[in-house]
Amino acid sequence: SGHPINIAIDGPAGAGKSTVARLVASALRYVYVDTGAMYRAVTAIALERGIPVLDEISIGRLAEELDIRLQPDEDGQRVWTDGRDVTSMLRTHEVNRNVSQVSSYEAVRLRMAELQRRMAKEKGVVMDGRDIGTHVLPDAELKIFLTATPRERALRRFRELGDDADITLEQLEHDIAERDRMDRERAIAPLLQAPDAKLVDSTGLAIERIVDDIARWARAASRTISAGEK
Ligand code: CDP
Ligand code: CDP
Repeated sequence: SGHPINIAIDGPAGAGKSTVARLVASALRYVYVDTGAMYRAVTAIALERGIPVLDEISIGRLAEELDIRLQPDEDGQRVWTDGRDVTSMLRTHEVNRNVSQVSSYEAVRLRMAELQRRMAKEKGVVMDGRDIGTHVLPDAELKIFLTATPRERALRRFRELGDDADITLEQLEHDIAERDRMDRERAIAPLLQAPDAKLVDSTGLAIERIVDDIARWARAASRTISAGEK
């Protein structure tokens, strides 16, 4: 029912973007697109091939040549590069520590934004990342900037590791802070709240509550557009 819209969800690491975006997409029967996974895929393949992450030319070339495909599935999204499922390679500490460097390069950002805009062309997409509301989909009908305190975000990620944690909470908090700093300070499409984005602080908030709010705002935006067309 209603006119499908695009929803942009941006914010720092561990704010709850992917969890919330996936549930909003499922509530609205929209397609969920995790753009961070695309930057992670470029980074993982660079590390696998031994391409130094400081070699901007080679990393840029890799981003332009790599065939990256996203495949929606029950628990989110699978990522394929050059016909291989690389999903399990994307969330290592090694990728965490190098992805913001890779993501700072213009050639990488231009290529990823081009692929992402293509995915959102038909509308009905919930896309999460850092620059979706500001650069990739500046015309998205609903924009959310999701945050939480740095301590809470590190704690969430630490809990996800469970008993297999091969890193201390302090190290994790340090890694996240460093990635956030690089994402906020980069010259091209930095992490930033769009002026027309709704700010949602998820600290201490239940996931369901945030999902319900966003789904409600989305339905309202969709109705407004449908009404405008009559
Ligand atoms: O899940 P988490 O919040 O830890 O990270 P992610 O969303 O998978 O993003 C990983 C990294 O990719 C970020 O730290 C950014 O450096 C980069 N990224 C970006 O530059 N632009 C986006 N639209 C999405 C991610
Ligand atoms: O995608 P992003 O890095 O922004 O965060 P996420 O991976 O969706 O969320 C990180 C963790 O925080 C997940 O384990 C979520 O279940 C949890 N979370 C939470 O406890 N409360 C919220 N309001 C949102 C997320």
